[in-house]
Amino acid sequence: MLKQVQHDECRMAGVKRQETNNTNLKRMFDYNKIATNYDQWYKTPLGKQIDVWEKNLFRLHLEKLQTKQLLEIGAGTGHWTEFFAKNGFSVTGIDIAEKMIAQAKQKNIPNAQFEITSAESLPYGDEQIENIVAVTSLEFIENQEKAVSEIFRVLKPGGYFIVGGLNAQASLQKSRQSDPVFKDARFFTPKSLFQLLEKFGTPTVEGCVYMPNPQAELKEIINTENIAPINLLNIYGNFLVGSVKKRKP
Ligand SMILES: C[S@@+](CC[C@H](N)C(=O)[O-])C[C@H]1O[C@@H](n2cnc3c(N)ncnc32)[C@H](O)[C@@H]1O
Repeated sequence: MLKQVQHDECRMAGVKRQETNNTNLKRMFDYNKIATNYDQWYKTPLGKQIDVWEKNLFRLHLEKLQTKQLLEIGAGTGHWTEFFAKNGFSVTGIDIAEKMIAQAKQKNIPNAQFEITSAESLPYGDEQIENIVAVTSLEFIENQEKAVSEIFRVLKPGGYFIVGGLNAQASLQKSRQSDPVFKDARFFTPKSLFQLLEKFGTPTVEGCVYMPNPQAELKEIINTENIAPINLLNIYGNFLVGSVKKRKP
């Protein structure tokens, strides 16, 4: 488990900066509003199938990690936390939505703990965290740049940062533009995810879940054959996974 350090002064400064910087930012969707229904998607036939494909790709990136400790950014209801724990990781999941965290805690996931805190002001010391993962959460963080700089600050050199994100170029995202949950989200493109991770080291970005038509029946959606390297199919893949090892100074 991760050790939380006391650096209230630093957190206070973070809050102040956040108030100033956020004045021009849009308010992101409040996940507390859908916390009790959030996991329903994963129980639908389409949600179940997509979940398998996304996890197959994510697992390939997890295999690069040399230690079994994870900080999970925007852990929500703990759906992915459970996956990480089943794959042998000890996980600390953080999220700002207390009702999402309440759902996660109810699952009693072994080797997992949860904290209500913002990725924009992480309560950990510099270079203290072994590895960091974020699954479809960076898109929903109001000050994404601040969160990424906090992730960079707390990650140990040699540790991995793995991001699962929704691809702006996929047809599914285009169909979500008026959806209140997604309309203010900052989706990635393979290129923007690559650029975000380049700050840490040399990234790998891949994609999966190619959906020619988001309304299509499950059988029409192409399966894991669509996991492909950056230059191939993944510009249309709905789910991108990028990983990077933080370079040593
Ligand atoms: C789409 S949900 C993803 C939840 C989970 N990772 C999953 O894939 O099921 C996005 C999550 O990011 C969280 N989030 C938004 N802003 C955040 C912030 N500043 N710090 C931490 N979590 C945040 C939301 O509360 C929400 O639970």
